[in-house]
Amino acid sequence: MALDKDLDAFKDVRETKTVDATKKLRIGFIGCGWIAGAHMRAFKKQPDVEIVAGCDLIPGKAAAFFEKNEVEGVKTDYASHKEMLDDESLNLDAVTICTYNRQHAEPAIYALKKGINVLLEKPFTVTLDEAVEVCRAEKESGKLLSIGFQPRMDANMKMIKKIVESGELGQVYYIQTGGGRRRGIPFPYGTTFIEDKTAGIGALGDIGCYSLDMVLNAIGYPKPLTVSGYKSAFFGKDPNYPPYVKAGHPEYAEKFGVDDFAAAFVRLEGGIILDFRIAWAMNLDTPGDTIIMGTKASLRIPSTECWNGSVGGPMTLYHNVCGEPTKTEIPIISMKENLFELKVRTFLDAIKEGTAAPVPSSQILYNQAIIDGIAKSAEAGREIEIEIPEI
Ligand SMILES: NC(=O)c1ccc[n+]([C@@H]2O[C@H](COP(=O)([O-])OP(=O)(O)OC[C@H]3O[C@@H](n4cnc5c(N)ncnc54)[C@H](O)[C@@H]3O)[C@@H](O)[C@H]2O)c1
Repeated sequence: MALDKDLDAFKDVRETKTVDATKKLRIGFIGCGWIAGAHMRAFKKQPDVEIVAGCDLIPGKAAAFFEKNEVEGVKTDYASHKEMLDDESLNLDAVTICTYNRQHAEPAIYALKKGINVLLEKPFTVTLDEAVEVCRAEKESGKLLSIGFQPRMDANMKMIKKIVESGELGQVYYIQTGGGRRRGIPFPYGTTFIEDKTAGIGALGDIGCYSLDMVLNAIGYPKPLTVSGYKSAFFGKDPNYPPYVKAGHPEYAEKFGVDDFAAAFVRLEGGIILDFRIAWAMNLDTPGDTIIMGTKASLRIPSTECWNGSVGGPMTLYHNVCGEPTKTEIPIISMKENLFELKVRTFLDAIKEGTAAPVPSSQILYNQAIIDGIAKSAEAGREIEIEIPEI
């Protein structure tokens, strides 16, 4: 009963927000590929937005993108993000950066230095050093930077955080998280996810960042201290990987330059242990559910078949009632809102209201530090200390 009441209260908050459409925010797109389409659909629904510019490194791609999405009067004659951001006639309030991972840091820094607010797709960056540089540019600019983790907007994800914050679990001391796909190396529109020169990191950054965020956000993002990491690429580098063969692209095996599986054992501040594994491909349905173990109770969050940042089914709380071990199912909350629309809306609201970023870089810096630490530890073949420079 108490749970139903909570959910109703949550629903009320979501439904009462109104948008002041008198002041329009001028928006530019950097990168007009696959995910830019989801951003476009979300921005088009906002009554206080004017999409004024877009660019892509591939000539003609930005113009074709806006034509396909039926948005007129958008300036697209730019060879790079720099040319677009240098065009002061645009008076941009914000840009949405939808470029591949290796092109996250540079456009974000350039935009922030120009005094433009930034919505940056996940993963934050490829390396920790890049993330630190972006955070410094954000601090110097005083502008807003939000990282594109739309699962944060999911009511079920919020429920995980709510359960931890309620104290129901007691002191959290061990977390297992991750997941993945049996056959799910992403190459829907080419090789930008799998080549080192564009992606830089594979499953570790692509979907690993989501599962890390799911648990770290719930427990308040403690600082990561040490990591022992592993990564491999047995499926991606195999020309006989069935989806390559089916798609007629066995040559993608040659191009594959990132990880398709990663695992790690991470020590977090506060004596918390994080046990993590993530796969784009494996000979298994799942490497395990997410579990958050506490001194009073534990929470099991079922993994999804295709890990994309959602909760895989009803969660289970293992707690004690009158001293007896008991299980309580936490039902899935169905949402009618689109997560991309919420991601965009919360970003716009934060700009207009001068409030904190919905997904702040100060938190995702720790997410990136773990990803970077896993990659470095895997290369060194031993546990390493995670050192995060001052911003
Ligand atoms: N939030 C989500 O659910 C979600 C889903 C898919 C992808 N993503 C993320 O979005 C990013 C892009 O993924 P995608 O699938 O759209 O890739 P994509 O390869 O389809 O598109 C990226 C586009 O960016 C362009 N580009 C690269 N650098 C540029 C620059 N400096 N200036 C202008 N254009 C530039 C490329 O030419 C390309 O057209 C990735 O980092 C990915 O992790 C997020």
